[in-house]
Amino acid sequence: MNLKDKYIEFFVSKGHKQIPSAPVVPENDPSVLFNTAGMQPLIPYLVGQVHPYGSRLVDYQKCIRTNDLESVGDTTHHTFFEMLGNWSLGDYFKNESIEWSFEFLTKVLNIPSNKLAVTVYEGEGNIPFDETSYNKWKSLGFSDEKIVKTVEDNFWIAGECGPCGPDTEIFYFKGGDDVPEKFDPEDDRWVEIWNNVFMEFYKDKDGNVTPLPKQNVDTGMGVERTTAVLEGVNDNYKSSIWSDVIDLISKISGLSYEGNEKSMRIIADHLRTAVFISGDYSSIKPSNTDQGYILRRLIRRAIRHAKALGIDEFSDWEQQIAKIIIDKYKIYYKELDENEMVILDVLRDEKSKFSKTLVKGLREFEKVINNNDRIDGESAFHLYDTYGFPIELTIELANEQGISVDEEGFLKRFKEHQELSRSASVGKFKGGLAGDSETEIKYHTATHLLNAALKQVVNKDVHQKGSNITSERMRFDFSCDHKLSEDEKKQTEDLVNKWINEGLDVSVEEMPKEEALKSGAECMFIEKYPDIVTVYSIGNVSKELCGGPHVSNTRELGVFKIIKEESSSTGVRRIKAVLNNE
Ligand code: SER
Repeated sequence: MNLKDKYIEFFVSKGHKQIPSAPVVPENDPSVLFNTAGMQPLIPYLVGQVHPYGSRLVDYQKCIRTNDLESVGDTTHHTFFEMLGNWSLGDYFKNESIEWSFEFLTKVLNIPSNKLAVTVYEGEGNIPFDETSYNKWKSLGFSDEKIVKTVEDNFWIAGECGPCGPDTEIFYFKGGDDVPEKFDPEDDRWVEIWNNVFMEFYKDKDGNVTPLPKQNVDTGMGVERTTAVLEGVNDNYKSSIWSDVIDLISKISGLSYEGNEKSMRIIADHLRTAVFISGDYSSIKPSNTDQGYILRRLIRRAIRHAKALGIDEFSDWEQQIAKIIIDKYKIYYKELDENEMVILDVLRDEKSKFSKTLVKGLREFEKVINNNDRIDGESAFHLYDTYGFPIELTIELANEQGISVDEEGFLKRFKEHQELSRSASVGKFKGGLAGDSETEIKYHTATHLLNAALKQVVNKDVHQKGSNITSERMRFDFSCDHKLSEDEKKQTEDLVNKWINEGLDVSVEEMPKEEALKSGAECMFIEKYPDIVTVYSIGNVSKELCGGPHVSNTRELGVFKIIKEESSSTGVRRIKAVLNNE
């Protein structure tokens, strides 16, 4: 029996009713494109509505997260995943929830209890330390060393407002070596596999936290991640969930997985998500807006990688892969069975549209980058309009060559085109492409300020090691040998906000690479840059080699806030931060 079946059976045996997965597109929430967590469809019930199935529920929910779409290709990212969850709607609370989680992990999955450790809520402001959970874990045999108290990581809310509460997170030790006596949640060998949230509060738009009418439990366990750690593989795509899909891609391409991992993972992941989106009852079709645009991007990115593997675009490769995915999941999701023809048609049509222009488009791309270190907006728009290259695809191709894209220029051209053709409303368009990109541009500028602030506050030898920006947050990795203290974090945050408030101008100039380096400009990978580089300066606080784009004045950024500081790898720390507009 697989993890999903065992989970459902166990919680049914504890008096839970199984509820079906909700559609991938939220039914009553236009603010998000897809369900991103198991609890999302249950929000009305968590805040008080009576559920027709009763007060103990269990399910597996289809979830889609596309913020990290471009990160898919590594060992852990997926755009689609299933989240297992059990719920108490004003029924049982912390003690039973923890007890059953422990029983499931140790008795059903047979995990030795010394391979488990937990975090609990430490308490802050009016919300006290979660003593009940702490004591419960102690009574189950967990030593003080295996129970870590935190504030930030143990209070759960989906987004800015809604039902929320302290949580206890359960970690599994995946390292092959001896389990350390002391649990460190930042040690990568410990993987979080289950999150039990005790939803007893409601946070409103003004930030007020009040008790909910009932105390609820919301737990979430990701099927992909947990299956991978339990099977002891260090690449999610090597788990039993993916092996048949990867084997098929390998057979179709005539290549081995080793050495071709990235493209194979992208094809496997993106086609699975495309199957679930196009097979959903919400009837999404590839388009240039909203969910349809995500579907289009997924299919086109998969096609591009199939081409990179040398797969013949005129064969039915995508049908074969979709079929194996449908067969695997249709016993759990009958919509895939019912909509099999629709799914296969969507994939076939989109492939035939894109395959026709892909080869010519790639040739055009080569022409555009020839002798250029930057793709201008006009060319990016031409690739989009004539060859059907989603802007994100152009950016990805460009990045692989160490080249930047003038996204702002692209958007300008795109808008002009929209206005000219009077198609798609501007509102929709903003929600789809432009809205995201404007926010991302702000985060990009904030990254430079953060880099400069860390050098002043922490150490002048701090260097950027990586960054990742979505429309919701920025992530910044930097070299540093210690966990930042509260004081360091606060000072960094204050300094960035001071610079934002000073309204510093952002300027850009071109110069030879050597000159730029001599002038003290910061740069991440020297070999990545061409001989003539663009250098962005922010007032006189920051100077970096960078392809842009950036805002023109720091005042546009809003309020900068660090939401998390954690270890990324040895000697590298990671900060997640947001910009709020107040
Ligand atoms: N809502 C919590 C999560 O998504 C537990 O289900 O992690």
